[in-house]
Amino acid sequence: MIKKEIIDQIREQSDIVQVIAEYLPLKKAGKYYRTLCPFHGEKSPSFYVSPERQIYHCFGCGVGGSVYTFLMQYEKLSFPEAIKKLASKLNITIETDNSEYRYQPLLDACEFATNFFQDTLQHSMPAKTYLQNRQISQETIKRFRLGFAPNGNLLINAAKKNGISVETLVKTGLAIKKENGYYDWFYNRITFPVFSASGKVLGFGARILADNVEPKYLNSPETPIFRKGDNLYGLFQAKNYLYQHQPILVEGNFDMLSLVDKGINNVIAPLGTAFTSKQALMLRRFSNQVVIAFDGDSSGRAATLRVIEIFLKNNLNPQVIVLPDNFDPDKYIKNYGKDGFENLITNRLDFVDYLLEVKPSETVSDKQARLKEIIDYIKLIDDNIDQELYINKTSDIFKISKDTLSNQIRKEGRDVQSQEIESKVSSIPSLKLLEKQILSLITSIPEFAKTAKQEIPLKCFSADEAQEIIQIIYDNIDLKNYTIAKLIDEIEKPALKQFVVNLSFQEKTVPTKNEFVNKLRALEASWYLKAISDAKIKGDVALTEKLSVEHYNLKKKLSQKRSK
Ligand code: UTP
Ligand code: MN
Repeated sequence: MIKKEIIDQIREQSDIVQVIAEYLPLKKAGKYYRTLCPFHGEKSPSFYVSPERQIYHCFGCGVGGSVYTFLMQYEKLSFPEAIKKLASKLNITIETDNSEYRYQPLLDACEFATNFFQDTLQHSMPAKTYLQNRQISQETIKRFRLGFAPNGNLLINAAKKNGISVETLVKTGLAIKKENGYYDWFYNRITFPVFSASGKVLGFGARILADNVEPKYLNSPETPIFRKGDNLYGLFQAKNYLYQHQPILVEGNFDMLSLVDKGINNVIAPLGTAFTSKQALMLRRFSNQVVIAFDGDSSGRAATLRVIEIFLKNNLNPQVIVLPDNFDPDKYIKNYGKDGFENLITNRLDFVDYLLEVKPSETVSDKQARLKEIIDYIKLIDDNIDQELYINKTSDIFKISKDTLSNQIRKEGRDVQSQEIESKVSSIPSLKLLEKQILSLITSIPEFAKTAKQEIPLKCFSADEAQEIIQIIYDNIDLKNYTIAKLIDEIEKPALKQFVVNLSFQEKTVPTKNEFVNKLRALEASWYLKAISDAKIKGDVALTEKLSVEHYNLKKKLSQKRSK
């Protein structure tokens, strides 16, 4: 456990704008900073950072929180890890205890296996020869920590000797339990560790040496630390190149290694899964354009079309390299060298030209089909300027007026997407409007929180969630270092955290203190009404009487204040 004071100190000493700006391009917008939200696909920025309150919020998907929340969400860190990360930036030392991270044993097991496979490769002639034949240099083998998984459950045995239990190996997908015991999951395969963006091994892909043996690749199963759709093969190594060079997405592990080996470093691969929006968003952190370089065969082309759609939906501009049939990037660069491949990059196509290039577009009905596909793609583009550029281009190619195209495209609008987003924004359904107004003022303006603590008891708030939030506020509000960011860190439930951030970012007219007190009274009065009716139902005459008198006095106070 890390002490509360340290957590506060680190939060107070860091600036959320500076921290987030290390990951995302922030632009000043009034009293906020703004950018595209990294947590959902969007085309116009709704992710806001408040330097004044040291919190952030996305109006699109509803995420939000303090500087710690951001690091936890963006870097997938645990709370203690986020604290440590900021602490080390600020040169604040806190006792480190790695065991705090509950998945640490799984990461340790993956790291151990990576080393073990790397060592084994050095002693395995067939595997070494295989990599040599595929022209992967020693340097690349080292950099990507390629290895070899041997036969005979050797990993399980080696792990045991090093204090890693077979159960932990099973949890990481490196071993499997069968009827008559435990077995290594990978054997007789070249291993490709899959790294997190910060370089930790999370899982593996593994290729059989022989050709024509199924499956060609075996991957780690999904584990608590490894989800294929959440990772990109090669991202860790490509990361620093992606700011200058747009990412090139290839299908195969060997395509990636081959291009890197020849000096093209900005390459990543999707780990053999259908490309996901999550992966698209990971790339958008670096660039708003991605070059797709899939295999030249028909399945490569079909996959390209699916990826184009995912990129457009996530506000990325897809560009496509067209490889000849029977070529993948690996084979192409081996045949035509780095220059040859760079030529392909130079001649990459946008999605309109790509569609026209790879699909027949001769007859009128071909053209109708193409036009329909292109319109469907253009509809996905949210940026008005980008959309118009593609409309203009399509209008020129098909000789159809821009107005006709625009009408067709805008007719169906973007209502669907905005509805989807709306429903994700968190709320407390049972909250009354007045309660919500008060809660919103209490959470964003500490002065009002102090007033509320003096003026109104917790019980007057009807929703349990509201009481939970206000209890935390009342517990903390008198502390010298109370801030909204601190409040958010004190709230444990993610949904409530998000709700408070949400409230505090809502535009509101700030009442005077008197007006605010009247709102509190009104809420209190409505509590009395309910309490009185409950007492009547129970037949508690004395209580009914007592509450009625209190309610009467309260109303008198209210009307006096108003008439002043
Ligand atoms: P490819 O078959 O194109 O692989 O599949 P490759 O890397 O180009 O392999 P080589 O050049 O024939 O050696 C593309 C990717 O799909 C995944 C792997 O990640 C592979 O790199 N894949 C493929 C699987 O996960 N399982 C399979 O059985 C095959
Ligand atoms: Mn391939």
